[in-house]
Amino acid sequence: MRRVYLDNNATTPVLPDVLEAMRPYFAEQFGNASSIHHHGQQTRAAVERARESVAELLGCRAAEVVFTSGGTEADNLALFGLMEKGDHVVTSTIEHHAVLHSTKRLEELGCEATYVPVDGQGRVDPGDIRRALRPNTKLISVMMANNETGVLQPVEEISKIAAEADVYFHTDAVQAAGKVPIDVQRIGCDLLSISGHKMHAPQGTGALYVRKGTLIHPMFYGGSHERARRAGTENVPGISGLGKAAELAVAALTGGEMERLGALRDRIQRTVLESIEATGVNGEGAPRVPTTTNLYFEFIEGEAMVIALDLKGVAAATGAACSSGATEPSHVLTAMGLSPERARGSLRLSLGKQNTAEDVDFVLSVLPEAVARLRELSPVYKKQETAAHTRTK
Ligand SMILES: Cc1ncc(COP(=O)(O)O)c(C=O)c1O
Repeated sequence: MRRVYLDNNATTPVLPDVLEAMRPYFAEQFGNASSIHHHGQQTRAAVERARESVAELLGCRAAEVVFTSGGTEADNLALFGLMEKGDHVVTSTIEHHAVLHSTKRLEELGCEATYVPVDGQGRVDPGDIRRALRPNTKLISVMMANNETGVLQPVEEISKIAAEADVYFHTDAVQAAGKVPIDVQRIGCDLLSISGHKMHAPQGTGALYVRKGTLIHPMFYGGSHERARRAGTENVPGISGLGKAAELAVAALTGGEMERLGALRDRIQRTVLESIEATGVNGEGAPRVPTTTNLYFEFIEGEAMVIALDLKGVAAATGAACSSGATEPSHVLTAMGLSPERARGSLRLSLGKQNTAEDVDFVLSVLPEAVARLRELSPVYKKQETAAHTRTK
């Protein structure tokens, strides 16, 4: 059975070159990167090479990169590393749960938090951020690209507001890294999170950019790894994979790969909108990463679509993988003002570097039929069809 994977915002396959870059560090070069002998020097060199590659992707110095176990840890380290009892954080209602659940916990620990809304396109208004500032605001945390819609946030404007108010600015760039250029100097952020497995490195890898001079408390205590910002023996194979993926991401950003994927994404959208009635794009018109589309299909449930497509060999999603199985409609789509029905009828298709034009042909050959079948089974759709029929008589 042919299988097409269009859930790359949930996770991406490790690319062959990434796997090759990791391979030596499982068995041949196994030293602890903190050991001073030959074996340790080999793996230390590998870790530092990877740090240079990640720094190049982000436009920062290697010493400003802290390797973590992923995006969740990077977000947690940024928030818990900076915030102290009595401090106030400004964030948005559409953040990933790695940020939202962290700010909830911070509130339980005696911090304050403000959650600014988004407009119908899923964008934060920097003016709302400014108005949310208080004398005790320590941090602003707004994501760079949303994981469900791909919508890009005005992070440079938000960063300026943070700088004017002398407040730290963190951005979760997990879904932006490798898809749009990132330059921490241009953005002006103090902290920025990335995750390896969203950019073709292995799961369980990631990094936090920490601007020089930004003091964060570690979350783990132990050795003085990562300049005492993240204790624990380095995951050398994973870090090497992340470094290679960062190099490939830099090459893809300049080599036309994102334009290729953007054209495939646009073809999916165009064909769906033209050939299937009562559909639309969530976040349409807003700047978005080129690899994501979030479509709504009236009268059907996104979950049912995911299952129907899976049976036909297409992997899609309704939203964040960690929220699948949840009965509540997406917090991102409802924050954008979608009705619960429309939010529940939404489907996310996200592309990765392994996807081809043939993959898109295949998806487009099965999607309209899947929608039609589900609508046939939908009592709401039947009712409105009957009403429309009666009206035309
Ligand atoms: C925007 C965003 N932030 C953070 C994370 C968490 O990253 P990780 O899975 O590496 O912990 C994700 C993962 O879905 C994400 O999409």
